[in-house]
Amino acid sequence: MCGIVGYIGHKDAYPILIKGLKRLEYRGYDSAGIALINGKTRTYKCKGKVSDLETFIANQDKSGNIGMGHTRWATHGEPNDVNAHPHISENGYFTVIHNGIIENYDTLKKELISNGYSFKSETDTEVLSNLIEYIFLSKKEITAEKAVRYALSKVIGAYGILVAAKDETNILIAARKGSPLVIGIGHNEYFFASDATPIVEHTKSVIYLDDGQMAIVERDNLMLKTIQNDVLKPEVTEIDINIESIEKDGYDHFMLKEIFEQPIAIKDTFRGRVSKRHQRIYLGGLHKVLPKINNAKRIIIIGCGTSWHAGLVGEYLLEEYARIPVEVEYASEFRYRNPIITEDDVVIAISQSGETADTLAAIKLAKEKGATVIGVCNVVGASIPRETHAGVYTHAGPEIGVASTKAFTAQVTVLTMMALMLGRERGNIDAKLYMEMITAMSNVPKNITKILEQSDLIKKIADKYKDASNFLYLGRGALFPVALEGALKLKEISYIHAEGYPAAEMKHGPIALIDEKMPVVVIATKDKSYEKVVTNIQEVKARKGVVIAIVTEGDQIIKNLANHVIEVPKGHDSIIPLLAVIPLQLISYYIAVARDCNVDQPRNLAKSVTVE
Ligand code: AGP
Ligand code: GLU
Repeated sequence: MCGIVGYIGHKDAYPILIKGLKRLEYRGYDSAGIALINGKTRTYKCKGKVSDLETFIANQDKSGNIGMGHTRWATHGEPNDVNAHPHISENGYFTVIHNGIIENYDTLKKELISNGYSFKSETDTEVLSNLIEYIFLSKKEITAEKAVRYALSKVIGAYGILVAAKDETNILIAARKGSPLVIGIGHNEYFFASDATPIVEHTKSVIYLDDGQMAIVERDNLMLKTIQNDVLKPEVTEIDINIESIEKDGYDHFMLKEIFEQPIAIKDTFRGRVSKRHQRIYLGGLHKVLPKINNAKRIIIIGCGTSWHAGLVGEYLLEEYARIPVEVEYASEFRYRNPIITEDDVVIAISQSGETADTLAAIKLAKEKGATVIGVCNVVGASIPRETHAGVYTHAGPEIGVASTKAFTAQVTVLTMMALMLGRERGNIDAKLYMEMITAMSNVPKNITKILEQSDLIKKIADKYKDASNFLYLGRGALFPVALEGALKLKEISYIHAEGYPAAEMKHGPIALIDEKMPVVVIATKDKSYEKVVTNIQEVKARKGVVIAIVTEGDQIIKNLANHVIEVPKGHDSIIPLLAVIPLQLISYYIAVARDCNVDQPRNLAKSVTVE
């Protein structure tokens, strides 16, 4: 969701800001803008892509070694030039970029209007810029910092902001509540961003702002405070993202690169945790809460979108092997339904970005109710890992494509490791089976590589059905959530309507949709439901539906029935979700490319949803 970049130093700010905005494009946005400060402030902003902004600024004055840039994902007011950020206060004293939502903007706006203010945009952000200015002008001898602080004390909602002041042109003020902000430390210069991707090429030393903190930053000085004005000692963290990992590396799209990175991503998720030699799985991040998990009355998994699907796979695996009851909930529902949670509950929050607003709020609620909360997160240092009692990083590396792929398989890998580790600890898995499962897990990367080698075949299938209006995805057991994930991937990037169903549910309704125009993707690998899924395939064929089946290699029965088969290698049941999802990711990728869709930045979507 929208991005913030900022720079204060001795270099030209413009190239740093524009490149930073490009790095943040993956988060999803609809308009962009830049403010450059060189004694006075110049702002340029427009609807559309960062490249449109670049064209718009091409012949303008780009000087200034202080500045800020923003990609907006509209919440209040449609995407247009006026609503784009930065927002300048009515009398030009303050320039603000903002990520988040000012919930009480309407009340504040009315107050400001009654005090003579008028508004150009429909945004909540302009209310904040005018509020800061109003406070600044109505109090005597007040600094910009104080005005920002007072204004923030009146604001309800979520924000990550950068503020520049006309009367203090050598400072930038950053503040955060709910929306992420990172500050990179250079040599007599500082970089600001919503996440570390625009910063890594400049410095590896960063400060993550916490909720309720603000930073008052000059070229050679940073002062960290709470919004209540208590001075804090900044905690400097070294980030280990390298620049290659956030570039396309010869692939046409980040999504394709990330699909092909999965063997490596999963190896990284295993690293130091799965050992064939020592015959064990060990998740160090859970060590201190292990007794709590082992004695848990139930586990509740929360997440959104793809992370929620990973949670559903986790439910099947944890119940099967750890034998602990599991419930999986959308974080957005959980947080508002007054759930019954006790101290005996363990909540697992899953999130790629670690910044999803609903998941964060659900974590806070679970903590208030006394549960132990574990995070499964990809972005190191994000808000979710800092908010949870313990956790496991997925270590899949930066995921830039809006459609989550390697983050999903890394999340499922962590949940599979958890299920096997707990299953063994709790005496449900004997030594022989444990070893068999560890071997199966260790083979996942090479088996994914085998599936990726079929991408030409998958592309041909995709080309054939690219004009379908609907798709159905079917699977059973832990493969049902994989069917849901396949359908979500297709909807997200190709805008084709798709639904995932448990295969046996088809006859309770969706079967009515089937005709010769309806491709049905059936995950039909050899497990205990195999025969039943074969029957489902027969039912689709009897109604002239098109069947694209994901089968275990060598399966002849389905080959004779289905229109197309894509093979996945044999393996223990527990790891099949990790294999079966790969062809589904590739099908949606190739269909989206064939339909000329913007694969990495699909319309209306944001990479991390930091607002409700
Ligand atoms: C996945 O392809 C989506 N773009 C989306 O559903 C995503 O999984 C969801 O917003 C959750 O994000 P998170 O994992 O960063 O919390
Ligand atoms: N609420 C603000 C707006 O609509 C900021 C949205 C964002 O986070 O990009 O302008």
